[in-house]
Amino acid sequence: MSFDKIITGGQVVTPAGTIDADVAIRGEKIAAVGEGLAAMSPDAATIDASGHYVIPGVLDVHVHLELPFCGTTSADDYRTGTRAGARGGVTTLIDFAIPYDGDSLGQAADNWHKKAEGKSLIDYTFHICVTRWDEHKDQIAGMVERGFSTFKEFMIYESEGWQSDDRAMFGTLETMRELGSMLLVHAESSRVLDELIARHHTPELMAKYGAQLHAITRPNFIEAEAIERAIHWCEVTGGQLYIVHMSTGEGADLVRAAQARDVPVLAETCVQYLCLDDSVFARDDGHLYACCPQVKKPADIERLWNGLRDGEVCAISTDTCTFTREQKAMWEGDWTKIPMGMPGLETLLPVSYTKGVLEGRLSLDQLCRKLSTDPARIMGLAPRKGAITPGADADLAIIHPTKTIKVDPNTLETNADWSPYNGWELAGFSRTTLSRGEVIVDDYKVVGAEGRGQWLPRKSAGLA
Ligand code: URP
Ligand code: ZN
Ligand code: ZN
Repeated sequence: MSFDKIITGGQVVTPAGTIDADVAIRGEKIAAVGEGLAAMSPDAATIDASGHYVIPGVLDVHVHLELPFCGTTSADDYRTGTRAGARGGVTTLIDFAIPYDGDSLGQAADNWHKKAEGKSLIDYTFHICVTRWDEHKDQIAGMVERGFSTFKEFMIYESEGWQSDDRAMFGTLETMRELGSMLLVHAESSRVLDELIARHHTPELMAKYGAQLHAITRPNFIEAEAIERAIHWCEVTGGQLYIVHMSTGEGADLVRAAQARDVPVLAETCVQYLCLDDSVFARDDGHLYACCPQVKKPADIERLWNGLRDGEVCAISTDTCTFTREQKAMWEGDWTKIPMGMPGLETLLPVSYTKGVLEGRLSLDQLCRKLSTDPARIMGLAPRKGAITPGADADLAIIHPTKTIKVDPNTLETNADWSPYNGWELAGFSRTTLSRGEVIVDDYKVVGAEGRGQWLPRKSAGLA
């Protein structure tokens, strides 16, 4: 029995539970998981994981890198974004290929391939965004042939030219059913949202409330109504639906009720909705925290953690869409001009481990299911990704159970010069990250070469 590398002495999170074991790697794959593997292959290189957890590499299935948005371009590209991810134990990301003006779905994918090639440190693929239904509807089957199994529609962002209406959502879900693919939906109710924004867009209210208007104009019913409508089209068409970045307790209730009726709907939340509430908008730098949908109330936070435990929330992602302080300053006191989004890849695992596992909300096994195993399966990347099991890619993170690092933007890999978690003491940064058997983070520092990440073709999506 010969192996190339053996990770020894760690507590390994496997689909069957957390066990004391070695993990043996041959080439890019996990070859064996068990006790005493080092003795079987004395020539193999060893990585000492004693006193550490060995967990599956994290999949961040909701990421925007180098995205032209809100009058600027998001500040993390495939170089900085994937270096940041690797430090946080992320070994796979899924970005969104959004067609530029007049582009086909195929051109959108080509554009995103160009952003990633030669730069990405970790493996990646894209959700394909359907932004102009009448033009794009006949291109979906071809994209499935090309290895893309997930599509995305936005219920807002008319001014970006990205908005889809009910007709598009209905038709796309019918197509998803035919092709066995999955539609991701950004669910916010645009007409009522626009009305609330218009009512509040006065110099007096902006002077009085500043960035708090972002939360004031997006009450929970803005998300809930849109989720309800998307679920309705899902139920009548039978097409697989996945609600992205769900932020409200009401949303979780609707998804749970629909799942109880066997409606094929899934929902992710993002780490910021599990640990930040809308009191951040009252801070002097509150505008930095603006993202769509915005972070909500403490009761929503608790409901979303419950949803992760009970099952209606299937994954934790980041919706990384990084803007620097200088970019965020474009708002000049008008919340409708804030570039929407926050950095997240580097802190996904540390925040969710610290808040989830160390504060007793999830077990480590549960967390790994929500960060790796379930998203891999739902996004059509299993069995290659998402679990420490023989035959899978050797994508692994080795984390210390309690050692904390203080979040300091000066030491982060992201291009952001701030972090929503600035000053937080977080455990769960990756001491060692392996991607397809190669060490890309060693002693908390990135050592892997840019451009080594590979595009991941997919054939399936959803739970069917
Ligand atoms: O604020 C956000 N979320 N920015 C990225 C675009 C989106 O809606 O996912
Ligand atoms: Zn969105
Ligand atoms: Zn997004």
